[in-house]
Amino acid sequence: MAASGALLVLFLFAHAAGNLKIFVGLPDFDHYAEWLRELGTPLLPHAWFLWIQRVGLLVAIGLHIWAATALTIRAKKARPVKYAHRPKVQGSYAARTMRWGGVIIVLFVIYHILDLTTGHLNPEGGDSNPSARVVADFAPERWYVTLFYVVAVVAVGFHLRHGIWSAFRTLGQQTTKGERRAQAIALTLSVLLVAMYLSVPVAVLTGLVG
Ligand code: HEM
Repeated sequence: MAASGALLVLFLFAHAAGNLKIFVGLPDFDHYAEWLRELGTPLLPHAWFLWIQRVGLLVAIGLHIWAATALTIRAKKARPVKYAHRPKVQGSYAARTMRWGGVIIVLFVIYHILDLTTGHLNPEGGDSNPSARVVADFAPERWYVTLFYVVAVVAVGFHLRHGIWSAFRTLGQQTTKGERRAQAIALTLSVLLVAMYLSVPVAVLTGLVG
């Protein structure tokens, strides 16, 4: 769970940082997208590195979901009889929303790829530049798309907060002081990531980028 999660966190930060290139300029953003396809050349043919990364990501997502399912089954087996009394509120909001948060994120990623990578669900279509697709996506009249992105990115934030905290536990964190530190690090990283992602739709919506 933690190893595949760590890889996904790395991707999330790299992707969020790359998106910020749009603040330098729209042509710079498109140039960055082209560079992603050139990465690894001439050692590898065009776009091979990107495809290796895509396969790696898919494997990490698959392992992450598999580990989550295996852990849930193990937890259920360990407690076959339901609790007679189970308080409703247990753990943080982030901890209680891991499963549904994960489902929202998977659905979002499928939509997101058809929208911004292939262009099928984007008004600009597949032959346009990545920057044109981003600008078209978050236009004020398509507020519902922006809303969906906001919901998904916030879900990623919650998921990450609990995930990072859990990873500290996996690494052996047990003390009260360490617990507070782990919570602070998890919250700071998640808020930072959400802010990095949301800055792009907000900038398009307010006309700062476009
Ligand atoms: C507002 C926030 C976001 C923006 C503006 C954004 C922007 C983009 C763009 C422009 C692309 C296409 C890049 C290209 O074809 O060169 C892309 C691809 C992608 N994004 Fe995002 N993204 C955002 C949030 C997210 C989030 C939260 C996730 C994960 C949960 C994510 C996962 C992906 C994935 C997996 C790809 C496909 C990469 C590939 O294999 O080509 N994105 N994104």
